[in-house]
Amino acid sequence: MHPILIKMMKKPVVILAIESSCDDTSSAVIVDGILRSNVIASQKVHEEYGGVVPELASRAHQQNILPVVDTALKRAGVKKEDISAIAFTRGPGLLGSLLVGTSFAKGLALSLRVPLIDVNHLQGHVLAHFVEDGSGLKHPSFPFLCLLVSGGNSQIVLVRAYNNMEIIGQTIDDAAGEAFDKCAKVLGLPYPGGPWIDKLAKAGDPDKYPFAKPNIKGYDYSFSGLKTSFLYTLRDLLKANGVETIDELAQKIPNLRENMCASLQATVVDILMRKLKKAAQDLKITQVAVAGGVSANSALRQAFVDYGKKYHWEVFIPPFSFTTDNAAMVCQAGYFKYLDSDFCAMDEVPFAKTTI
Ligand code: KG4
Repeated sequence: MHPILIKMMKKPVVILAIESSCDDTSSAVIVDGILRSNVIASQKVHEEYGGVVPELASRAHQQNILPVVDTALKRAGVKKEDISAIAFTRGPGLLGSLLVGTSFAKGLALSLRVPLIDVNHLQGHVLAHFVEDGSGLKHPSFPFLCLLVSGGNSQIVLVRAYNNMEIIGQTIDDAAGEAFDKCAKVLGLPYPGGPWIDKLAKAGDPDKYPFAKPNIKGYDYSFSGLKTSFLYTLRDLLKANGVETIDELAQKIPNLRENMCASLQATVVDILMRKLKKAAQDLKITQVAVAGGVSANSALRQAFVDYGKKYHWEVFIPPFSFTTDNAAMVCQAGYFKYLDSDFCAMDEVPFAKTTI
């Protein structure tokens, strides 16, 4: 048969992905390796509680999932009959949230008689660096190190191949994003606090408050001591100034919030980068990437550029749209698994705990 006829007969590989691990309902479509749509419905309902309320997150996913998937298919110009396989985030995350996406993916896969692909959310974050979205995103080559920093995770991942990753260091207590969010809450900033800290830090002095840094072996992290140090600094300032609230204190100390934010941010970035540098030097790896929600942080992004120059790393910083939770990264991971015919059983269940 003529090659053009064979090409015309070959059906494109269409992957539909569903991400519902925390408080974003997202769906994406990749056709023959190219991202065609990535729809995200963020949940505003948690703002007034200062953190994600799991029960409310599950309910919002339930409401959002159908319109989000429908929009993703429409924007991609794809009919559900064209789908080759359905990828979904199996974990880690909030179990109730994961159950919504998992059940939806299973139901759709069953009705369309297409295979199901389970995706590890953390692997998705790492593989976001391979999404082909038409913007000419640079891809790391193997092996590379990925600093994965989000609201729930702070890890150094050694990536040997798309399907071969190892966590070589991780937080033994809080995640970096959690430290940002909790300290922001103490300062009276809205949830999530990370972006607020980033914003206020721009007008602050990063050397004003010397917060405690952990002394942990290997490539592991710890942020709970820093959180306590931040809290104690504020407590001591309140006492020394004879006031009871942060607002009163901010009236007495010019740039209080800005300086606290800048000092906190500089400390978090320094903690993250030192361990990453150690891992890169020990393993002699010069391809270094960052991923996860906290990779939106401007000081961390700048630190990557600076370390890259200083230590001759080639650095990979994702576009902002791929830093927070999104289905494009799940779709990319699903596409790679599809090419390996790596499908999962219909009775696969979600998992909450961090693993890779
Ligand atoms: O990956 P992600 O969207 O999902 C969760 O792990 O839930 O990460 C969210 C985290 C939050 O802690 C948020 O405060 C943090 O990323 N974050 C930031 C910035 N933007 C988001 N932290 C610091 N600076 C930012 N610009």
